[in-house]
Amino acid sequence: MTDFIPVNEPLLDGNEKKYLLECVETGWISSEGPFVKEFEQKFSARMGRKHGIAVTNGTAAIDAAVEALGIGTGDEVIMPTFTIISCINQIVRNGAKPVLVDSDPITWNMDVSQIEGKITPRTKAIMIVHIFGLPVDVYPVLDIAKRYGLKVIEDAAEMHGQTYKGKPCGSFGDISTFSFYPNKHVTTGEGGMILTDDDELAETCRSLRNLCFQPQKRFVHERLGWNMRMTNMQAALGLAQLERLDQFVQRKREIGRNYTELLGGLQGVQLPLPATEYAENIYWVYGLILDETRGLSAEQAMKLFGEKGVGTRPFFYPMHQQPVFTKIGMFKGERYPVAERMALQGLYIPSGMALTDEMIERVAERVGQVLGLG
Ligand SMILES: Cc1ncc(COP(=O)(O)O)c(C=O)c1O
Repeated sequence: MTDFIPVNEPLLDGNEKKYLLECVETGWISSEGPFVKEFEQKFSARMGRKHGIAVTNGTAAIDAAVEALGIGTGDEVIMPTFTIISCINQIVRNGAKPVLVDSDPITWNMDVSQIEGKITPRTKAIMIVHIFGLPVDVYPVLDIAKRYGLKVIEDAAEMHGQTYKGKPCGSFGDISTFSFYPNKHVTTGEGGMILTDDDELAETCRSLRNLCFQPQKRFVHERLGWNMRMTNMQAALGLAQLERLDQFVQRKREIGRNYTELLGGLQGVQLPLPATEYAENIYWVYGLILDETRGLSAEQAMKLFGEKGVGTRPFFYPMHQQPVFTKIGMFKGERYPVAERMALQGLYIPSGMALTDEMIERVAERVGQVLGLG
């Protein structure tokens, strides 16, 4: 189909080509190149943090964050069930226990009111994950963490340029992480960043990123790390993208507002919440939750949208229902009805940076045809 509208297309028409060319012309293509440090400095400064550690992707950033905090056997980490598998991987690999909470049906973020009831003497950290463009209600979580002496990991993978009560998302965790996958507001192709104000944690993350090579005895290792170094070429892209972050956020908000205006008349379809008292949505993606009364699951709707040339993706599938865990008896008997429903009935429609107003109208028209606007 020629007029297929993909779910995401990045916009690379700023200084991306110029900076990338510089990498090629100077020969600086590895992680040793100067753009990496510059990107780390500029990105961490923008998010109000002391340290930025650029890595290969957002998943790696979380892996290193969990490892750097020393989360291991016997520890518990409270986290949302409705998120991507990246959040839970290293917790499980390290022999710690993920303790899940359900989502809020209106904001789609973790239900913060469920956190305190899940704390045990073994709880070591709370992982907050900002979902789809609206931040988690952060301050109540920070308050709980302080009262119980817990660490906070903040997964801000989808939140470039978003603020919570005027402070940048990514500035709240003991360790915060970002992804720069092409569907993010700032992309490096593949890439991620760890942010922290803690000198020691930063040093540990830098070491973990670089195979825990030791400065004096390079090939003698005291700890196992990874090679998760970002290349100069990725950082070149990131710098060019970062220059336009404000513009990108503004455009994403415009995309969101346009969709809401065009789709607001649909019956039995929940659209993203435009704002809460603490933030205005930046619409990382534009999600729809279909009411069961429509008799249409997200999977069925995605098929119909696809036939009309509209790209979609399903919502996340909850952690407590992942076969990789259930088959070994994890989360047995646990139910999180809001997240389960979101996974069954939720999908998102094209909302990438390169979407034009005309494309938005076409998407909305086709969505309307499938879901009954006529
Ligand atoms: C909330 C969240 N965390 C982590 C990640 C993982 O990032 P990456 O794809 O760069 O590994 C994503 C990716 O989309 C995400 O949405």
